Amino acid sequence: MIFTGSHILSIAQFDRADIQRIFEVADAMAPYALRRRVTRVLEGAILGNMFFEPSTRTRISFGCAFNLLGGEVRETTGFESSAITKGESLYDTARVLSGFSDVICMRHPQEGSVAEFADASRVPVLNGGDGANEHPSQALLDLYTIRKELASKGREIDGLRIALIGDLKYGRTVHSLCKLLCLFNNIHITLVSPVELAMPGSIIEQMREAGHTVVVTDDLAQSISSVDIAYSTRIQEERFATKEEADLYRGRFRLNQAIYTEYCEPNTVIMHPLPRDSRAGANELDNDLNQNPNLAIFRQADNGVLVRMALFALVLDVVDQVDQCSREVNWYNSLRTL
Ligand code: NCD
Repeated sequence: MIFTGSHILSIAQFDRADIQRIFEVADAMAPYALRRRVTRVLEGAILGNMFFEPSTRTRISFGCAFNLLGGEVRETTGFESSAITKGESLYDTARVLSGFSDVICMRHPQEGSVAEFADASRVPVLNGGDGANEHPSQALLDLYTIRKELASKGREIDGLRIALIGDLKYGRTVHSLCKLLCLFNNIHITLVSPVELAMPGSIIEQMREAGHTVVVTDDLAQSISSVDIAYSTRIQEERFATKEEADLYRGRFRLNQAIYTEYCEPNTVIMHPLPRDSRAGANELDNDLNQNPNLAIFRQADNGVLVRMALFALVLDVVDQVDQCSREVNWYNSLRTL
């Protein structure tokens, strides 16, 4: 694809060479993410960060990524602080906000809403999650993390064995990740969920068409026994009609250190897009895994900054100028690693 000036709305936009390019640029962002160097390449540019659903990581990491490239961030969070509550359409909001910004990130509870907004926008729009549909930047950072974790064991993405666990019906991160894995070869995917929260059939079909092996099960112990990655997800309670309905599924698939030790191969990597639901009734990834070196959840979040810096640099066409506009930092945070 041509990145310059493009919206990033869906994984369907990318081919394998595009992913390679994003990862290459993300790797090159490390000195800036590590605060070894500072770049001002996006000085004067403004990111409009519009999050109409709760968000911590995605919103802050898009914002930090933009700041680390030298740009400024303006935010709207929640419908209640937006004129959308006064009946303003997405079209009008997009026309106005894109006049103030050079690029926009948006999260919205309705599927397709970010694409609708992008149609009216005068600047590139990056999808920060549209309902249960897609979350492309999360899938990119997930795959970037998988690639790094596998590389440390001398392995590549092709041939990956992965279990996706939890709410696969409403979980937009796993929808985007499955679509992304379709660009690779010979993947073995185990889908672990309650039957009612199964992965949409169209995505399973797409994976089988890509030549991947797809196993559908509700047996956690067996499914995590021969995988490279166990990717757990939260029950997406905000997509259920009632909290009580979500409660039916919460806590169904819990992974803790004892289960890990009993069933997983040594060095199975544990991932989760976060937030993990740490309430007693859910606890899909127990705190007793926190000291397990294979728990990659915080490395995932760190990698998100690199990947989002890469997306901004590509879409705003400054990749080749990032280093030219850089200098040493005046201070050094010796604790920061990636
Ligand atoms: C995810 C999301 O919003 O889809 N969070 C995130 O962006 N890392 C996953 C979730 O909320 O469960």
